Amino acid sequence: MLIESCDLGCGDLQACLSLDRLSLGGLWTAQQWHTELEEPARPVVGLRQQGQLLALACGWLVLDELHITAVAVSPERRRQGLGRQVLALLLRRGHGLGALRATLEVGRTNVGALALYGCFGFQEAGVRRAYYRNGEDALIQWLNLATTTGWGNP
Ligand SMILES: CC(C)(COP(=O)(O)OP(=O)(O)OC[C@H]1O[C@@H](n2cnc3c(N)ncnc32)[C@H](O)[C@@H]1OP(=O)(O)O)[C@@H](O)C(=O)NCCC(=O)NCCS
Repeated sequence: MLIESCDLGCGDLQACLSLDRLSLGGLWTAQQWHTELEEPARPVVGLRQQGQLLALACGWLVLDELHITAVAVSPERRRQGLGRQVLALLLRRGHGLGALRATLEVGRTNVGALALYGCFGFQEAGVRRAYYRNGEDALIQWLNLATTTGWGNP
């Protein structure tokens, strides 16, 4: 069945909130999602199938940097390439908006996310100790978008 790539807006608020709760444990409130979805310098992209949001990725454009704030795939649809697809979409969108580099934080033990970011060539550049609510460290990673070629594909 066809999977549609899309830019998400305020009309997708409930879908983002649901996917956030399911996949990220409730990163943001409805009010915070509303801000993310309405602000042009905060791209939010998604993958939909038959109207259902399966994956999202979002970030903040800060000068020429894309600060990736969330990447999430519906639990029952993981390991089907959707994470790779939605992250590539966000990176291309950020690049199109003028970002030359992308950065993110990822939990030290988040095996799936670390593997996904590795596919794109993200490199570790530092650690934020006890960054998450559960005390886990975050690894800071960067990717040079100006030299990115495969966009997640080898
Ligand atoms: C991380 C996440 C977005 C990955 O989404 P996904 O759709 O499963 O990822 P993909 O299927 O596109 O995987 C791409 C590659 O990443 C790697 N990968 C993804 N999940 C993996 C896992 N659990 N274990 C090992 N490798 C994994 C693999 O190399 C995979 O390629 P392959 O399937 O061809 O081997 C998803 O697991 C998720 O939503 N997790 C919860 C939210 C989260 O942690 N987000 C990141 C916050 S920093």
